[in-house]
Amino acid sequence: TPKEVTIEKDKVYKTDEWMNTPSTILSAIPRRLHLQQDHPIAITRQLIESRFPNYKCHNTLFPVVTVEQNFDSLGFPADHIGRSRTDTYYLNKDTVLRTHTSAHQADTFRANESAGYLISADVYRRDAIDRSHYPIFHQMEGAMTWDRDSLDASTSLKQAVWADVAKIPAHSIDVEDASPTSHPERNPLQECHSAEEVEAIAAHLKRSLEDVVVAIFNAASRAAVAAGETPASPDEPLKVRWVEAYFPFTSPSWELEVFWQDDWLEVLGCGIVKQDIMSHAGVPNRLGWAFGLGLERIAMLLYSIPDIRLFWSTDARFLSQFSSAAPIRRFVPFSKYPTCFKDVSFWLRSSSSAAGGLSRNALSPVDFHENDVMEIARDVCGDLVEDVRLVDEFVHPKTGRKSLCYRTNYRSLERTLTNDETNQLHERFRQQLVEKLGVELR
Ligand code: PHE
Repeated sequence: TPKEVTIEKDKVYKTDEWMNTPSTILSAIPRRLHLQQDHPIAITRQLIESRFPNYKCHNTLFPVVTVEQNFDSLGFPADHIGRSRTDTYYLNKDTVLRTHTSAHQADTFRANESAGYLISADVYRRDAIDRSHYPIFHQMEGAMTWDRDSLDASTSLKQAVWADVAKIPAHSIDVEDASPTSHPERNPLQECHSAEEVEAIAAHLKRSLEDVVVAIFNAASRAAVAAGETPASPDEPLKVRWVEAYFPFTSPSWELEVFWQDDWLEVLGCGIVKQDIMSHAGVPNRLGWAFGLGLERIAMLLYSIPDIRLFWSTDARFLSQFSSAAPIRRFVPFSKYPTCFKDVSFWLRSSSSAAGGLSRNALSPVDFHENDVMEIARDVCGDLVEDVRLVDEFVHPKTGRKSLCYRTNYRSLERTLTNDETNQLHERFRQQLVEKLGVELR
């Protein structure tokens, strides 16, 4: 690993044994798809922003943040899985690529520039490889707060919030909201909030986000009709539902799901901001809500984009199909190129063979994590790998050694790969598994 990394020409970070960010990820940082003119991620962002006219938009916040910003400030416990090097890209022990836009919550509340704000940004997570997961994606975070101090003597906070609720446009969709706003064990109120205050803030949150979903799905069904398709259910109105959720930084918390193509689809997470965050941010008298959503997921259903890798394509056959000036139209796939799968089987290192053997990293010499296989595949194949899946697992009855078999699908979205090319990719993938993970090929 290099001793230091430079990001965006002048930001230099010292690396240490926590560094696990490959150069392929670092070099994608400047892409900023959410700011690229006429890119579907940018258009989706603008569509949502247009539903929050008085909110301040932050769209250029820098992706390298501290562990404090990404986790500590939000109340993530010390042993939370999200903090592990298998899930998060570190530059050093104290510095990560943000895993979510919530990393900027505390700072944005502290700046206290506007009651409502939106943050759109690239976020980074080590994860599986398939058509809906990519190690870089884009989120939008939103928040609205009310200040107890700025109310006049005759108005209570809940009255002020309900007055704002009345200003949100009405809709006629079918909303299912079966659980109570809060629940003493499953989804508790915070001690410093009254049930009536939370009821009002939750109503504002839910109405605001229902309005967003209506705007998105109306645009999606107009696109479907324009493409000559019958929308999934022409006579039925859009159905959404609120379900209880958990996040370390909100309570109570909820998720919004939308009934889409015969299934409930999770579109966003949200809740009442923990008062601790406000206090630490120097605005103890503000309270309110926050939400976070994934822009790729929404763009994929808005445009019927079948594979998340397409967002990274610079091919005109992809990019020319989107325009912020025209109504949203379905993406028309250019011909689908053939796929080719190959398997690799290997024995995992056992503790005894690792003792004197290769040490992949100082922190966890024998641990095997699937995300490491995924990352090697990305590193070797870039966007030519469509998905990587565990297809077989076997434990030797005598030695107790474990063997895994992964199936890799190779496909370019832009051309047909030659046999030679896939063979070479696969061979390099196999060699890197040995070199970086110390496995033994079968
Ligand atoms: N940051 C959360 C995520 O990435 C989403 C979220 C944002 C939830 C704000 C609640 C409030 O899953």
